[in-house]
Amino acid sequence: MQPKPPSNPGRRKFLIAATSIVGTGAVIGAAIPFVTAFNPSEQAKAAGAPAKADISKLTKGEMMLVEWRGIPIYIFRHTEESLTNLNKNLSRLSDPDSEEDQQPDYAKNSNRSRKEEIVVLEAVCTHLSCAPKFYPELGTTDFDSDWQGGFFCPCHGSMFDLAGRVYSGVPAPTNLPVPPHYYESEDVLVIGEDEEVT
Ligand code: FES
Repeated sequence: MQPKPPSNPGRRKFLIAATSIVGTGAVIGAAIPFVTAFNPSEQAKAAGAPAKADISKLTKGEMMLVEWRGIPIYIFRHTEESLTNLNKNLSRLSDPDSEEDQQPDYAKNSNRSRKEEIVVLEAVCTHLSCAPKFYPELGTTDFDSDWQGGFFCPCHGSMFDLAGRVYSGVPAPTNLPVPPHYYESEDVLVIGEDEEVT
């Protein structure tokens, strides 16, 4: 059974973006869970070509989904409030300081991100690889009485905060992975490489 959303649902936007060809990212409603329309060639995919995401339309509190090497990637832009809330549940997290090797060095910080307000996560539960769902609102949910926003895996109940840090006592053993990424420009995020290859 799907968990009930929080009792005080706020505006939730879930953006789906095409990647690879910057500027063609579609911004559509929440009904479609995955993008299939972006396309590096199959050959490029096999070779692990990086994906590019245009984040210019990603406003605070919104998340977009892109695909890189067949892996769904969540990109979330924090609000001031959600950044502050990252510190509220530290005692409930299994690896709040990202000691496990689940991110590049530049993302080993409290936000697990290269740019403070943007978090980039592989949307693959570290238990058995289901896709955790996005629950940004605060409040009481079916799965938590003090939810500070984050991701909930419906398969076996693992919870992650908005930096992808896993809660203690859930099946998932580690934080969500942060893929290698860098910013080609203010609005263009490259996923799959740590820096521009010249
Ligand atoms: S696959 Fe996510 S909790 Fe099991």
